[in-house]
Amino acid sequence: MSLTPTRADKFSFGLWTIGYNGTDPFGGPTRADLDVVHGVEKLSELGAYGLTFHDNDLYAFGATDAERQKQIDRLKQAMADTGIVVPMVTTNLFSAPVFKDGGFTSNDRSVRRYAIRKVLRNIDLAAELGAETFVMWGGREGSEYDAAKDVQAALERYREAVNLLGDYVTEKGYNIRFAIEPKPNEPRGDILLPTLGHALAFIETLERPELVGINPEVGHEQMAGLNFTAGIAQALYQGKLFHIDLNGQRGIKYDQDLVFGHGDLQNAFSLVDLLEHGGPNGGASYDGPKHFDYKPSRTEDESGVWDSVSANMRMYLLLRERAQAFRADPEVQQALSDARVAELAQPTLNDGETYTDLLADRSAFEDFEPDSYFNAKGFGFVRLQQLALEHLMGARS
Ligand code: GCO
Ligand code: MN
Ligand code: MN
Repeated sequence: MSLTPTRADKFSFGLWTIGYNGTDPFGGPTRADLDVVHGVEKLSELGAYGLTFHDNDLYAFGATDAERQKQIDRLKQAMADTGIVVPMVTTNLFSAPVFKDGGFTSNDRSVRRYAIRKVLRNIDLAAELGAETFVMWGGREGSEYDAAKDVQAALERYREAVNLLGDYVTEKGYNIRFAIEPKPNEPRGDILLPTLGHALAFIETLERPELVGINPEVGHEQMAGLNFTAGIAQALYQGKLFHIDLNGQRGIKYDQDLVFGHGDLQNAFSLVDLLEHGGPNGGASYDGPKHFDYKPSRTEDESGVWDSVSANMRMYLLLRERAQAFRADPEVQQALSDARVAELAQPTLNDGETYTDLLADRSAFEDFEPDSYFNAKGFGFVRLQQLALEHLMGARS
């Protein structure tokens, strides 16, 4: 398997990632603004297949219709010249001061109506550019103070907005699905739908749940102390992994947005193994865009930005190579078998067995001796994990 990215790998980048100028809460920019056409050309040259953007990454908030159209036309021309596609579009409902208490769930009703209109306009653009996924990251949907936000009402307003968007794409005949992106905090003290589990539960309350999935981000789940790979396995199991934001995070702290694999490398390895191969017992895998949502560090100049673009893709490809070697190793297969990983795929009851049958099975309880059964029979999980890490480290070929 090649370590050179190709279009078939479906690597995509947010315009706000490569365009990040280094501004942080403590200091101003360290890089010049990036022009979208230059960005598309560089992504194409480096082997990516897609560009994603928020409306206001492409044109300024408050741009005139003519200014907006000019930028859309420039992007379309760059797409035609390079073959770069736009698989996903998203809306900025967080930068402008009007959104300081959120968009879909602001306490202010006029802001909510304005937010929905901004999104509808951007959905038309997404459809025009051929995007099939529309991401909703509600960074400002939340609060700092419990008394200031009626969370149940906020969920109801979120639901109202997403139901309306579902009606819109259905009636327009757009081939677009929605992906909610959870995050526990930042910029709000507490964000609504803070983890992928909250989002999955919320989706089931919608009028068209089949149109809505999730766009989980590595760092966001890790900010909540969760195991990202395990969460992704549940999203795949429920058929809800519509998109994914790959990056790196080191522990429970602010959203670091490091290069993929530059945070929890071990979890990145198990993630790529899962995305590429599915669960060890044939569970679903992922073949959507591998979207990098990271921030080139503010210490870098423009060449450092492109180095970090390549680093994201190379980390993914290296991990894919290591995961393949891991799966193919006969010693690993033996260790998996010793650990009885496949036995978990076997139903606990026999075909057609009822609870009455189970209650009648003395070997399951009355004659079962848990102490002697377990005695001296380890699972060998540590040995399996050591083999995984040795493959990750390139210590086994
Ligand atoms: C963040 C988020 C955003 C979203 C983006 C797409 O923490 O800032 O990850 O970068 O992914 O807004 O909707
Ligand atoms: Mn983030
Ligand atoms: Mn993200």
